[in-house]
Amino acid sequence: MCGIVGYIGDRSAISVLLDGLQHLEYRGYDSAGVAVIQDDQVITHRSVGKLANLIQKIDRRELHGTVGIGHTRWATHGRPTEVNAHPHQEGRVVLVHNGIIENYLDLRRKLEKLGHSFTSETDTEILCHLVAEQLKKTKQMQPAIQKALALVEGSYAIVVMDAEDPDRLYFARQGSPLVLGLGEKENILASDVPAILAYTRKMVFLEDGDRGVISAKKFEIFDAKGKPVKRKVAQIDWDPVMAEKGGYKHFMLKEIFEQPKVIGDTLAGRISAKHGVVLPELAELFGSKKFDVDHIQFVACGTSWHAAGVARYWIESLCGIPVSVDLASEFRYRNPVIGKKTLCVAISQSGETADTLAAAQLAKRRGAKLIAVCNVQGSSVTRLAHATLYTRAGPEIGVASTKAFTTQLTVLWLLTLWLSRKLKKIKTAALEQEVKALKRLPGLVQTSLESHNEVRALAKQFMNASPVLFIGRGTHYPVVLEGALKLKEIAYIHAEGFAAGELKHGPIALVDQDVPVIALLPQGDLLEKMISNIQEVAARGASVLMIGEKNCFPKGMGTAHIPMPKASSYLTPILYVVPLQLFAYDIADQMGTDIDQPRNLAKSVTVE
Ligand code: F6R
Repeated sequence: MCGIVGYIGDRSAISVLLDGLQHLEYRGYDSAGVAVIQDDQVITHRSVGKLANLIQKIDRRELHGTVGIGHTRWATHGRPTEVNAHPHQEGRVVLVHNGIIENYLDLRRKLEKLGHSFTSETDTEILCHLVAEQLKKTKQMQPAIQKALALVEGSYAIVVMDAEDPDRLYFARQGSPLVLGLGEKENILASDVPAILAYTRKMVFLEDGDRGVISAKKFEIFDAKGKPVKRKVAQIDWDPVMAEKGGYKHFMLKEIFEQPKVIGDTLAGRISAKHGVVLPELAELFGSKKFDVDHIQFVACGTSWHAAGVARYWIESLCGIPVSVDLASEFRYRNPVIGKKTLCVAISQSGETADTLAAAQLAKRRGAKLIAVCNVQGSSVTRLAHATLYTRAGPEIGVASTKAFTTQLTVLWLLTLWLSRKLKKIKTAALEQEVKALKRLPGLVQTSLESHNEVRALAKQFMNASPVLFIGRGTHYPVVLEGALKLKEIAYIHAEGFAAGELKHGPIALVDQDVPVIALLPQGDLLEKMISNIQEVAARGASVLMIGEKNCFPKGMGTAHIPMPKASSYLTPILYVVPLQLFAYDIADQMGTDIDQPRNLAKSVTVE
């Protein structure tokens, strides 16, 4: 949601801003804009729709200023129009903003009484006027921003340019992400790491309440009261190339095919024949202390919530601890029973999802120990948590999550094994067996990817179907929810995932010869049950696509089959989601939708 870039240094700012905004496109947006100071003038360009529209408007040769700010806007207050696009300006104050100012109507009324008038429908323009109003008294930008923000309720990351001072940029963050990149004779502010990677890997992840100022060579950070604060400078290990398409048609396809590699990275150093599962990240939290956990509570949204759904089956079956899985947006507004013996696990690819952060905060406030499962170093959830288990998926740019999901599952399976060992619920030989199986996981995911040709051919057949039903049982129930979500997100096809045993309690009424059913039938205790469920839908004329090991396909049933490799039954969710990701991708590709940035969606949902 909304992307911010601010640049000050010795390069042409416009190139850095546009390049940065391109790397933030994945966040979702519907208008964009930039402002650069040049020859004592602020030159602003704004445009509705894709960044390409903005780029077309700008003659880079004419713009040589070395300080500027840029923004991609995901409309909340006010429609996606050029007037509502950022940057906004009032007098000296030129500003971009990500977040929501909750008391903006109240502030607007007060400012109107003081003679201010507004051109846009946005809450952001109010911020500009608020700073400009404070400037009348303080004359200096930093205290004016500080005073203005003291009046604001809501979430924000802002970058402010002073039209009368091209040597500084100002920033503040409260509830929305902002990263500071420290270069040689240049500094960059951005909503996320990929916008900065090409210039430097030295970064400061700003914290809530941080405000500050940067010049080309210096940076200063203050807390909400104006007291100087020190922040750790992190060295980011992501490679700029990781955030490029690398010859693939879409980021999503690239990310699907990266899964064997990133799962391998996620496992690296965490499993060994001698020690089983090693998670040093948890040492401090549980090290010498008695393991006093009687309940595990997952909070997450969307795809990350599906990963939690799989982990529930794993942990309950191997560790014998009750597990609750909640949608963060629901959890935060109920009165959950959480105590000191609760271990809360917040799963978030981005680490910035507003609902997940609020849910995790609530659990922590009530005394729970908090672990984050996250892909982004230094992100908000990692700072909130007592410990973080990083997925090592690299930057995920496609809005629809793929490699983040399978690396989350990998980490959650490691956590399950670690817990079962800690609780002495698993025998050494069984653990050794599972560690052996894990070593083969990247290779098995590679084999799952080999289904691509078959999937692509089938996608043509399913292209005009709606709805599409997905059915699965046990750990594969959350996987079919994920398969259906992928199809909805990128192909805009109505799809639903069902626990196969639930069909006859209602959803089977949907089934006829025009409704395709995709069924996951891995080897195991539930195979016979799944076959019965497939019979139920086949008897009603549905064409059934079965995904499973070759010897599991019941004879004479199913319209199509996708064979999967043999694997330890715990690992099959990680393998079986792969053809579902490819299936959604291929249908969307044939339909020609905007796969990496599907309509109405944002990658990082930083507001409620
Ligand atoms: C779906 C998808 C979303 C996210 C959800 C949570 O493909 O990407 O459903 O999973 O918005 O995001 P994170 O994991 O960043 O908290």
